[in-house]
Parts: sequence; structure tokens; C-alpha cells
Amino acid sequence: MVHCCIPGVSGSTMEVYLWLFLAATSAVTATHHPRQLSPCQVVDMDVYCNDMNLRAIPGELPTGIHKLDLSHNLLQNLTRELMPFYTTVNHLIFHANKIQFIQPGLFTDMANLQVLDLSKNYLDIFAASKNEIGPLLTVKQLDLSGNGLYTGMTDYFLHDAPTLLNLSLDGNSITKISKDTFSGSTALRKIDLHNNVILEIEDGAFDSLLDLSELDLSMNSITCITDFNLPQLKLLNLSKNSMESFQTTDSDTEYELQYLDLRENKIHYFPIVPRRNKLMYLDLSRNLLRGINTIPPAEELELMSDSRFPTHPQTDHKNIHNDLSRLLYLDMSYNQIKSIPSSFFNYTRSLEVLNLSNNCLEAFSVNHLSPLNSLKILDLSFNALQNLSFGENTLQSLEELYLTANNLRAIDSAIFYRLPSIRELHLQHNFLRICGLLHRPPQRSHHLHSTDCIIFSSVHTLRSLYLSGNSIEFVPQCAFHGSPLAVLDLSQNPGLILHKNAFTGLESSLTYLSLRGNDLHVLNTDLFVLSSLRDVDLSDNKLTSLPLWNKESAIQSLNLQNNCLVILEYNTMLVLERTLKTLYLGSNPLSCCTNTRFLQMVQRSTVDIPDIASVTCQYTQDSEQVEISITSVSQEHCEMLNRKSLSIIVIIITSLVLIAVLVLLSKLCHPRRHRLRGSFKA
Ligand SMILES: *[C@@H]1O[C@H](CO)[C@@H](O)[C@H](O)[C@H]1NC(C)=O
Ligand SMILES: *[C@@H]1O[C@H](CO)[C@@H](O)[C@H](O)[C@H]1NC(C)=O
Ligand SMILES: *[C@@H]1O[C@H](CO)[C@@H](O)[C@H](O)[C@H]1NC(C)=O
Ligand SMILES: *[C@@H]1O[C@H](CO)[C@@H](O)[C@H](O)[C@H]1NC(C)=O
Ligand SMILES: *[C@@H]1O[C@H](CO)[C@@H](O)[C@H](O)[C@H]1NC(C)=O
Ligand SMILES: *[C@@H]1O[C@H](CO)[C@@H](O)[C@H](O)[C@H]1NC(C)=O
Repeated sequence: MVHCCIPGVSGSTMEVYLWLFLAATSAVTATHHPRQLSPCQVVDMDVYCNDMNLRAIPGELPTGIHKLDLSHNLLQNLTRELMPFYTTVNHLIFHANKIQFIQPGLFTDMANLQVLDLSKNYLDIFAASKNEIGPLLTVKQLDLSGNGLYTGMTDYFLHDAPTLLNLSLDGNSITKISKDTFSGSTALRKIDLHNNVILEIEDGAFDSLLDLSELDLSMNSITCITDFNLPQLKLLNLSKNSMESFQTTDSDTEYELQYLDLRENKIHYFPIVPRRNKLMYLDLSRNLLRGINTIPPAEELELMSDSRFPTHPQTDHKNIHNDLSRLLYLDMSYNQIKSIPSSFFNYTRSLEVLNLSNNCLEAFSVNHLSPLNSLKILDLSFNALQNLSFGENTLQSLEELYLTANNLRAIDSAIFYRLPSIRELHLQHNFLRICGLLHRPPQRSHHLHSTDCIIFSSVHTLRSLYLSGNSIEFVPQCAFHGSPLAVLDLSQNPGLILHKNAFTGLESSLTYLSLRGNDLHVLNTDLFVLSSLRDVDLSDNKLTSLPLWNKESAIQSLNLQNNCLVILEYNTMLVLERTLKTLYLGSNPLSCCTNTRFLQMVQRSTVDIPDIASVTCQYTQDSEQVEISITSVSQEHCEMLNRKSLSIIVIIITSLVLIAVLVLLSKLCHPRRHRLRGSFKA
């Protein structure tokens, strides 16, 4: 892209520009580059005059420009003498000025104007003066967001905008959409009314907009929609309102609706969507759903006698079964759902993502009648699940299963083994046990048998397994054999005992292993056979030494924080030094002077030690334990120590020599005993 300056600026205007430019940017260097004296930048046929404290539009802009960006200036009044131009301009940006007056008809002659951005100005003042902006005969996109406009004021901008496709009224103060709000702009396809205070939408307000496909009403004050009847809409966003119910007029009309966002409302009952619909995406998260009923149970209805839930002729107090057969995404997280009958999934056969996290589910099952065989992601985390069952040949596409923070204890041991596509299992904070290899996965048989452990071996697609916080006591031999795990998290299982061959089978696949917070005193497991391991977390344990790593080790990140390490083995350091990039080592009772190799490594900083500030060493000085930061350990500390130990060594050697002499003397004095010993040997 070529950046160039506006050519042909005459002498006198040059002075004006210079003044403007200096005032605006205080850039003194400009005097050295006369070609940059103009405040604006021209790129091809686009002119950028943004952020320059301009109070007027620069007069001498090249002819034939396409785009003029005047955002972030101080423009107040847009009048014809200010804007003599521009029949060629199609993109006009006045974002973030102080515009409060627009000469009526100013844009009428701009025969190519397509995009007009008037966002963040004071157009409420303009509208209050009851002026009209005049015809917008070619404009396709109009941005009026952030102008303090309230109900009725939009008329002054929209009354003659027959070509308008996209309209943003985001961040104004509109309380009501009346029947004729959009009667002058009937080509609209997309309306953004996000962040207003809309309480009321008059019947038929959008009826004349036959091409309307996206309507964003998020962040308003709408309390309910009892007769949704806009078959042309593809996307309806009602998130962050105060909606208590959403119901569609019952009709045979085919609705185009694909995206319905009802997140963060106060909805109690499952919405009634159009009977014939194309719904793909439904977000009901953060509402007050207790189940998937579309209307209150009959007994509750009688008590309520509430007009919000008109008796549906079709159903006669029975639940209406929404057709959700094209639905791909359903989010019902953060509700109060206690149970979901598995028959519900008969209506959601295409579902790919189902999020039920943060509800009150105690049991969840999928059976062969509604097998959810398209589902890829299932989130059931943060519930109170005790029972979980997946029937034969169900969930055949499931790749990610989230069960974090439930009460799972005794469930079918082969439950995950039977998921043929599973890649990620998030099982943190439950009470699950790990089966050993002796637990042969039931071949072909699908008996639901609860046992006290779960099979994690031979799950041929499993790549990530999270078992943090399950109170696991023992990881048996070959527990994950035949599962191509890359990520294994066994952290926060205090007291965990690992079988020596616990990780056999993971040699070439495992790249991440966490054993954090397990109270481990020793690491008896052959971590070094895991030749793909890159990232190991051993923090918050009681390790006093590290296992020897062999030469094939490829570890790049090692976390040893908060252990009982005194010495890092010379040979281990030699191996690690080759590949290690990051090492965490804080809160260990390290002895510096006996770790010279390590000390050198730190001081040569070949390895990044993010927590270096908390890495300290201990040594004894004048029979007192002294702790100093590893960065300030100098050779002298150790030499001082060495001198002391030297004198101790001298004393010890002297004593040894003395003892030897005594022993020799005593032997010479008792030759008989010597002989006896000799005969004993023979
Ligand atoms: C803009 O117009 C108003 C009246 O319409 C006038 O009072 C004000 O001085 C004008 N401001 C500028 C900067 O011309
Ligand atoms: C209107 O909005 C849609 C969706 O954001 C966008 O793809 C389209 O380009 C816009 N139309 C115009 C004329 O700017
Ligand atoms: C609905 O609007 C909110 C903003 O309030 C936005 O975060 C969300 O993505 C929108 N939903 C859809 C489906 O576009
Ligand atoms: C599932 O839906 C089919 C029609 O799609 C119906 O015939 C069947 O009875 C339903 N099964 C259940 C268990 O609701
Ligand atoms: C499910 O919803 C929760 C909360 O809205 C969110 O944090 C989580 O990431 C979602 N789960 C998935 C798998 O997207
Ligand atoms: C869980 O299953 C057991 C045994 O099948 C049953 O007794 C119990 O009621 C179930 N709990 C729930 C919450 O469904």
C-alpha cells in the first residue's frame, strides 16, 4: 500500500495546514518533510483525517476520493459550505466528533454515498431541533450509535432511507419501537438496537421489513415475547433483557430463524419456537429454567392463572414438543435444571454441542432411542451427578466430555471405553478410581455394571485425561495402556501411590504430566521412559530427590516448586540442561554449595526460572541455618563454608589415622585372634 501526501497545496493554505498540523500533533519534525504538511493522509483514493482536533473539514482534498475518515475530531456543524463536495465519496466517517447540526439535505447529492458513520456525536440535539437529515437515497449502512437518541428521534434520520440495509442504533436511549419507526427504511436487513432501554415493541413494528434478517435487541428491558411472528428473521438476539418467556404464534409458516440468543434473562420455561423452523443455535444460558418443560405443569398453571402462558389449543396443557431437529448448538448452562428426560434428545437429533454445566442434575442418561450420535461436545460440569449412563451405540461422535465437579463415584466402569470418538475427558473433582489392566474391558458386551473403578486403558482415541482432585489412592500397572494420551493430569490426589509401571504404554505419546499436590515423597515411576514428555508438573509434593532422567529426555518445562529438594543430581542436571527451557524451583530447602552444577546453570541463565525470586539456598553459618536468595550466592559463601569443612575434614582424617595406628598396634599385640579370623575365612 502506498502512503502519500496531498499534492498541490498552495503557499497560503500551506501555512494554515502547518499551523493545524502543529496544533494537532506538536510534531516538529514535520518541517523537514514539506510533503507531509497536510494533516490528512491519502492512501489510494482514501483520505484519513482522523484524530487531528479538526474543527473544520480540510478544504483542499483531492477530487475523486472514495473514503473520508474524520473520526475523533471536533466537528460541530456539518453544512454545505463546509462540505462542498463530493460526488465520488462512498464512505464517510464522522465517528466521535461533536456534531449537533447537519444541514438538511446535505447528503442528498452525494450520489455514491453508501456508508455513513455518525456514531458518538450529539445528534440528540439535532433531533430535538426537529430538523430532518433529508433523503439518504443511496446509503446502505448508517451508524447512529451512541448519540443519546430517544424514542421518536430516529424518524428524523430514517424517514427517507429507501436503500438502507444496515442500521446501528446501539447505545442510545430508545424505550419503544413504534409501528412506523422503520416505515421510511423498508429495505433494512440488519438492525442493531443493542444497549437501549426498550420496554415495548408495538405490534407490527417490523412487519414492513420483508428482508429483515438480523435483529439485535440485546441489553434492553424487554420482559416477554408471547407472539413471535417474524418468519423472515435469521438471527434474533434478546440476550441481557428481563425476558420471562418466549413463545411463538402457532402457525404453519416456515420460519427462517437460525440463531436465537436468550442468554441472561429470567426465563422459567423452555421457549416455544416456531413449529417449522431452521433453528441451529439456541442459547438459554443464565436463566431460571428448572427443566425442559415449555409450560408450567398443569397444577402449577391452575395456581398461577397467568395470562403469560395461554393455553395452547394444540396441546391442551401438555408440553409442546419443539421441533429442534436442525439444532446444532444448545447452551443451557447456569440454570436450575434438575433433570432432563432422555426422550428430549429425540427432538435434538443433530445436536453437536450441548452445554448443561452449572445446573442441579443428579442423573443423566442417553439411551439408544435418542442416541445423540452427532454430539461432539457435552458439558455436564458443575452439577450434582451421581448417576451417569450412556446406552449401547450412543454418543458415537462425542469428542469432548466435561464432568468436572460432580459426585461421580460408582458408575459403569466401561462407560468411557465405549465412546468410540472420545478425545478429551474432564473428570476433575469427582470420586473416581482407576482400574488396572486386569479389568478386561467387556468385549462386545454392554452390560451396565457399576464397579468401583473406571477403565482408562485401551480407549483408542483418548488424548487428554484430567483426573485432578478425585482422592485417587493408587494408579495401577499399565492403567492407561493402549490409550494414546498426550495430556494426563493426576494432580491434587494427596497420598497417591503410583505403580512402578503405571505409565507403561504412554512412552511415545505423553507430552504433559501433572502430579502436583500429591504428597509424593519419592518418584518411583520411570518417568524417563516417557520420551515424548515435554512438560512435567511435580510441584507441591515432598520430593527429596529427582529420579535420574535418561539421555532421551526431551523435557522443556519442569515444575519442582514447593518440595523438599536439597540437591539436584549432577547427572540429572546434565541431561535436563540439554532440553530444559523453563524450571520452577521456589520453596525448596536447596543447598547451594553442593549444587555447583545447578548454581552455574542458574548463573549462566541457560534456563528460564520464572520464580527465581523465591528460590533460596540454605547453609549453616556459625551453627545457624541461613537462607539466601540463589541469585546472591557467591563463590565466597561456599569457600567460607569449604574452609570450615576443610578444618573438619582435617580433624576427621587425623582421628582416623590415630584409630588406624591403634588398631594396628592392638593387632600386633594379639596375633592369635588374627589367626582365628584367617581360619574362619577358609
Ligand atoms: C453551529 O451552529 C449553531 C447554531 O446552529 C451555532 O450556534 C454554533 O456557533 C455553530 N458552531 C460552529 C462551530 O460553527
Ligand atoms: C451489513 O452487515 C453485514 C453483517 O455484519 C455485513 O456482512 C455487510 O457487509 C453489511 N452491509 C453493508 C452494506 O455494509
Ligand atoms: C448477542 O449479543 C451479545 C451482546 O450483547 C453478544 O455477545 C452475542 O454474541 C450476540 N449473540 C449472537 C448469537 O450474535
Ligand atoms: C422419537 O421421535 C420419533 C419421530 O421422530 C417418534 O416416532 C418416536 O416415538 C419418538 N420416540 C420417543 C422415545 O419419544
Ligand atoms: C459451557 O458453559 C460454560 C458457562 O457458560 C462455559 O464456561 C463453558 O466453557 C461451556 N462449555 C463448553 C464446552 O464450551
Ligand atoms: C442412581 O441409581 C441408583 C441405582 O440405579 C438409584 O437407586 C438412584 O435412585 C439413582 N439416583 C438418581 C438421582 O437418579
